[in-house]
Amino acid sequence: MISGRDLDLQFSDNLHGELTVAKKPLNIGLVGYGFMGRTHSNGYKRVNDFFHELEYRPVLKAICGRNEERTKEFAEQWGYESTESDWKALIARDDIDAIDICTPNNTHAEIAIAAAEAGKMVLCEKPLARTTEESLPMVEAIEKAGVANTVWYNYRRVPAVTLAKQIIDSGKLGRVFHYRANFLQDWTISADLPQGGEALWRLDAEAAGSGVTGDLLAHCIDTAIWLNGGIKDVSAMTETFIKERVHQGTGEKQAVTIDDACIFHCHFNNGSLGLFESTRYARGHKALYTLEINGEHASIRWDLHDLNRLEFFDHSDQGIVRGWRTIHVTDGDQPYMDHWWVPGLCVGYEHTFVHQVADFLASLSSGEPCKPTFRDALETARVCDAVLASAKNRAWTDV
Ligand SMILES: NC(=O)c1ccc[n+]([C@@H]2O[C@H](COP(=O)([O-])OP(=O)(O)OC[C@H]3O[C@@H](n4cnc5c(N)ncnc54)[C@H](O)[C@@H]3O)[C@@H](O)[C@H]2O)c1
Repeated sequence: MISGRDLDLQFSDNLHGELTVAKKPLNIGLVGYGFMGRTHSNGYKRVNDFFHELEYRPVLKAICGRNEERTKEFAEQWGYESTESDWKALIARDDIDAIDICTPNNTHAEIAIAAAEAGKMVLCEKPLARTTEESLPMVEAIEKAGVANTVWYNYRRVPAVTLAKQIIDSGKLGRVFHYRANFLQDWTISADLPQGGEALWRLDAEAAGSGVTGDLLAHCIDTAIWLNGGIKDVSAMTETFIKERVHQGTGEKQAVTIDDACIFHCHFNNGSLGLFESTRYARGHKALYTLEINGEHASIRWDLHDLNRLEFFDHSDQGIVRGWRTIHVTDGDQPYMDHWWVPGLCVGYEHTFVHQVADFLASLSSGEPCKPTFRDALETARVCDAVLASAKNRAWTDV
């Protein structure tokens, strides 16, 4: 599974003069110094400080961005050893083991395919690409090259969400009836907000592929498939509330073709019903990702704004004390938490990326894939496509 430059074992003397096995370096070449460029860089920098057991150590070898001055500033800020202004040059370098793609969605396919063909490991931001059609050749290239890969659906690695997965897998919920998820924001309500270009590429369907469906619901769908299994069919509606916005590229008012809001319901393969809503027009909500699962014996709910807590209702509790309990997921026997502080002390958003880096590095040692893989993320792309097709055709659509 591991590919790229040979990863040499190195030996070093520790403080006591004993010979110890040093960590194997994994040279990272990261493309895109925006929001995700920062979260991932933080993950690479922090991971070995807290996950001591890992055999590998990420090295911030090169950062790639189109603006040379800002790329250099980023390199200095985060401690990258070098810069590149063209991702093709980055991929061509012999001293890069893994390419990390943190650029807008319309660039993922070209970079990922070229990186895989060059034998590099590939870590790609979500969604895999703009559509299933664009995503499929990425999966094929990755699998043909046999390189290690992962897609950054990082909410799987919130300790409380990972705990939800453990509870579900233990069978405590029994038969699942309902899965409900929301992802609500409010940052595009102003009609004066332009579309396209830097920072606002998410409003431009050409760059993003879709609006809230590929951006926000993709997260909800990935978590849902992970927790509750595959989605069979969907019925959706979308709305674009502001029909025209000035495009930063042309300076002209142009039609807005992304979905500003999307609501869909679905059947899961396990017979349960799903209900999903996402919008950027929910005044007051900045990033309210919530999920709830109702089973025969128990229910679970979680809220990104209070991400350390998992709420759990167990019908088998004694009647007089039965009720929703709040589990503060900060104890050492709960997922990931033995690597952080002491019981009772919280972690945050940035830790999900540290966890994904830790899991990716561990996967290089174990040979097990780091999920979600490109193949897993393709399934989310399929659901997103079905949702958009259903809304367009006003019809139930098979995934
Ligand atoms: N996992 C998550 O929770 C999460 C959160 C936000 C964004 N994302 C995903 O991460 C990706 C990036 O989003 P972002 O919010 O960081 O965007 P951003 O706009 O903050 O940053 C994108 C960066 O890519 C650079 N870029 C664009 N084209 C490039 C090219 N050809 N070569 C080199 N650099 C290029 C831009 O200059 C910018 O620095 C998107 O796919 C997005 O969907 C994921």
